[in-house]
Amino acid sequence: MDSVYDFFKRKRDWSKYKDLILDYYLGPYLQIVKRIRKPILVVDCFAGPGRFDDGQSGSPLIIANHLQKLHDLHFPVTGYFIEEATVLYNRLEDNVHDLTIPIETRFGSFRDHVAEIARLSQTHTVFVYVDPFKPTDVFFNDLELIYNQLKRRASVEVLMNFMSVGFLRGVESFRDRVIADGGLLENHALVLKWNEIAGGSYWQQIAYDDHLSPDERADRLAHCYADMLKKWFNCVLPFPIREKYEHKWPKYHLIFGSRHHKAAELMNRAMVKARREFVNDGFIKGHLFPNQPQKEILDPDTILRIVIETSREVGKTTWVDLRVQATVANPATYTDSEFNSAIKRVIREGKLASNCKGRKIEEAALVWPVD
Ligand SMILES: C[S@@+](CC[C@H](N)C(=O)[O-])C[C@H]1O[C@@H](n2cnc3c(N)ncnc32)[C@H](O)[C@@H]1O
Repeated sequence: MDSVYDFFKRKRDWSKYKDLILDYYLGPYLQIVKRIRKPILVVDCFAGPGRFDDGQSGSPLIIANHLQKLHDLHFPVTGYFIEEATVLYNRLEDNVHDLTIPIETRFGSFRDHVAEIARLSQTHTVFVYVDPFKPTDVFFNDLELIYNQLKRRASVEVLMNFMSVGFLRGVESFRDRVIADGGLLENHALVLKWNEIAGGSYWQQIAYDDHLSPDERADRLAHCYADMLKKWFNCVLPFPIREKYEHKWPKYHLIFGSRHHKAAELMNRAMVKARREFVNDGFIKGHLFPNQPQKEILDPDTILRIVIETSREVGKTTWVDLRVQATVANPATYTDSEFNSAIKRVIREGKLASNCKGRKIEEAALVWPVD
């Protein structure tokens, strides 16, 4: 593994897609949450220096750029950036020094600042970005104090780089030590530690199941982690970030959690955009004959099928709930407006029952499966 200093020498291609998602999301997100009329706090728990050695913006400067637009309109915003490596922290301070928006930098581990962020979330709308360097950097319950504020009607959202593949490599490295006579030593210190990172023991089945491909393992792990986050968030969306489409492992998964379906749909749009850009860069741009994989070609019948299947699973519900459930079950695949068109069509074609006609979007209308 590169050292943390090598990491910032130049921005890697796959980091570009991670940053695109953050960047695509923050603009519309801030436009929506400014209506709540609470001050806005954007927290970067693993900030790094703010700028890569090749001149590209790191996450703190991407965040600051969006906050600046609201600040110019006199909305109260703060960027809150934490970094624990002295050299990188000093660079971060230099890089944010000339910004005109309120910035709070914090030196040290993010864990030492969780209580302060939890306190701030009682008065602020909070977005937390968690982009660690290695899987052992974040234990599942580390941010619990902040997430618990949701029970007090706080507005908190999280975008996390869940290091699914790093996690699998980590637990593979000690597999021989924790398996004896074909059984897992459940109380072994290493097993207990990785349970804490994962937030449960579900990883053991996934990581040590030799029938699963590496890709399936990483995906399953990320989906289980996402399910664990549902303890706090109604909508959780996992999205794999890859270096190359054909690679059998992703680099990691981004996982987004929110209580609000509007935020989840915005994030889903950002993920769809990044995914399509990724496919475009790899298979379409500069190719005389686009050769994207079959599953990346938008097939109108597939989205209709997804809507009908989701309706069967959830039963009678509202249009908007059906759309959100279909999104959560198929993250980063179709936008909300594509789902709306599909819902309209299945209603008009009589494949879904409804108390509306399916001619226009009626989010409060009831929809239910046709037997
Ligand atoms: C993957 S990098 C973050 C990159 C940054 N998000 C960006 O895109 O520009 C992780 C950073 O977190 C820092 N770090 C590691 N453990 C930390 C901790 N416990 N608290 C705060 N920062 C930490 C590392 O020094 C490193 O700069």
